[in-house]
Amino acid sequence: MKFVQSATLAFAATALAAPSRTTPQKPRQASAGCASAVTLDASTNVFQQYTLHPNNFYRAEVEAAAEAISDSALAEKARKVADVGTFLWLDTIENIGRLEPALEDVPCENIVGLVIYDLPGRDCAAKASNGELKVGELDRYKTEYIDKIAEILKAHSNTAFALVIEPDSLPNLVTNSDLQTCQQSASGYREGVAYALKQLNLPNVVMYIDAGHGGWLGWDANLKPGAQELASVYKSAGSPSQVRGISTNVAGWNAWDQEPGEFSDASDAQYNKCQNEKIYINTFGAELKSAGMPNHAIIDTGRNGVTGLRDEWGDWCNVNGAGFGVRPTANTGDELADAFVWVKPGGESDGTSDSSAARYDSFCGKPDAFKPSPEAGTWNQAYFEMLLKNANPSF
Ligand code: BGC
Repeated sequence: MKFVQSATLAFAATALAAPSRTTPQKPRQASAGCASAVTLDASTNVFQQYTLHPNNFYRAEVEAAAEAISDSALAEKARKVADVGTFLWLDTIENIGRLEPALEDVPCENIVGLVIYDLPGRDCAAKASNGELKVGELDRYKTEYIDKIAEILKAHSNTAFALVIEPDSLPNLVTNSDLQTCQQSASGYREGVAYALKQLNLPNVVMYIDAGHGGWLGWDANLKPGAQELASVYKSAGSPSQVRGISTNVAGWNAWDQEPGEFSDASDAQYNKCQNEKIYINTFGAELKSAGMPNHAIIDTGRNGVTGLRDEWGDWCNVNGAGFGVRPTANTGDELADAFVWVKPGGESDGTSDSSAARYDSFCGKPDAFKPSPEAGTWNQAYFEMLLKNANPSF
């Protein structure tokens, strides 16, 4: 993952009746989804009806982490994190294998969050999350990755899904087109995202296309090109009915409504009016609307509990001092904001701080980055404990 600030361009579940005393009591079975097929209406906010599912993959990571904590008060707090809804990242073809086991215990009133994240030439402006697929391997992306996920989602038609589509990818094409890697990735990103939107356009699915964050596409000069980029891919996919809008702040650090914004004192602040995510989704959302794309948003609040930690707005790697943020909720107080969600599983690294590693990115070595940190996606116990201690609100 990489977040780029482009100053250059700136320039209910129904209650069940209590069983009668004579009814034989079965042990509570983990229910897999609903009794019948789920149909989501993407013209409404599905998070008002469904709660983000605490997936068992993150639960296992968190429970293992809690076991490793000797301070019993802290360990008890850690266990509570396992009950927070989070997104499951399908970041490699192999990790699609994590999906079906995560669908075994989903109550009908829950929605499963998934991150679609395996484009060829992934993370074109950084190194930490360079993917398994090379530029040019779009056929593999389609047949071995997207088609396989689509099959599983179809087979689980009784379960509701919310998808975040390819974090950072289209934003990178807007602001990092000067990089050869992003130039090479561009056509594959556009075709790949459009393919994902078409194939995953299923009745039990709603989709949010990633739109970076306020410190990225929020710059005056990036708003329109950003909205046009997303809308053009959305239209090339045939304007799929299940696209609800955008995801923002994924794996990010921005505050929701801090005033004035965290970077409002920066020398280039005059070129960015989107100093917090609330302003960003409304400003960018207006551009999306004019560009002809649905514009509701979900915002990652998983690690934005503490602000004022980054030296620069673009610092994206394992920010030191961070804390868990607001728990997933549909009570956002903003018409365009469907929900605050936890997308980045707090405790998983953003990138290695080992400067000799092939995927070492210098952002992960900056003074404001937590060290040592393992490879992107790998558990970092010390970082998890820090997020927990600094959680705001606390656990
Ligand atoms: C990594 C992925 C990981 C995800 C969630 C990304 O930065 O590249 O491998 O699944 O973060 O931790």
